[in-house]
Amino acid sequence: MTTAIVTGAASGMGRAVARRFVAEGWSVAGFDVQSSGLGSLREELGEGFLPLVVDITDAGAVTEAVRATVDAFGPPAACANVAGIYPTSTVWSGDTALYEKIFGVNVLGTFLVSQAVAAPMVEAGAGAIVNFASVDGLEPPSGQVLYSASKAAVVNLTQSFAAELAPRGVRVNAVAPGWVVTPGTGAQDRLEDGLAQVPMRRAATPDEIADVVWYLAGEGRATYIAGATIIASGGLVMR
Ligand SMILES: NC(=O)c1ccc[n+]([C@@H]2O[C@H](COP(=O)([O-])OP(=O)(O)OC[C@H]3O[C@@H](n4cnc5c(N)ncnc54)[C@H](O)[C@@H]3O)[C@@H](O)[C@H]2O)c1
Repeated sequence: MTTAIVTGAASGMGRAVARRFVAEGWSVAGFDVQSSGLGSLREELGEGFLPLVVDITDAGAVTEAVRATVDAFGPPAACANVAGIYPTSTVWSGDTALYEKIFGVNVLGTFLVSQAVAAPMVEAGAGAIVNFASVDGLEPPSGQVLYSASKAAVVNLTQSFAAELAPRGVRVNAVAPGWVVTPGTGAQDRLEDGLAQVPMRRAATPDEIADVVWYLAGEGRATYIAGATIIASGGLVMR
């Protein structure tokens, strides 16, 4: 049995990533704060999916959830840090509370989960972690000041973790999506304007991004890639 942990599994891309790994025959523990979304995914995926209500900003809860995953399915071979929030903020509207909220989930949450899964992966001498950055972390648009900074931090965190963990057999990489149609973006009116700038003239589906995660973390894949941020933006950002 091969095990993956997927944060943000109740919605959007996290849900698609969990589905993809279960479809590939893996056992998946989904960490999220939304119990109803986790519950419906458990109904859909059955016993191969373990729903765990966890706030990833709570270090104790994260440690406990990783332990529950190991008890149920064995040590994780892959971890996708998909959970994230993207409230808008400008130079003028950003404040301490919003900074702490956004950096709490996007940066601290990614750090805590990566730290907790790194221990069993290093012990096994193998593993792959995939973080969720964003093209906003590479080329920030206006109106996403704090979010863009948090995703730039995720790119950097990915590189630091890769530098420390690659010698011990654990590859750490990131995906930087552009526009993706998810429940989160569906709630935002920026989507229509944003797509006009995309050379492919459409948003990605969550499954297309899950495919990148599978490429980075699936068995025997991307075996020489560490510390990379793979851009999946339909040509919006090219590097
Ligand atoms: N949708 C896009 O266009 C887009 C583009 C680039 C990057 N991203 C990034 O991709 C990731 C997924 O985006 P999405 O649109 O699928 O999001 P979404 O809003 O559909 O789902 C995010 C999930 O994260 C969970 N979550 C939030 N805070 C949490 C916490 N403290 N602990 C545990 N779970 C928590 C939510 O409950 C939700 O189920 C995010 O990191 C986002 O920043 C999204």
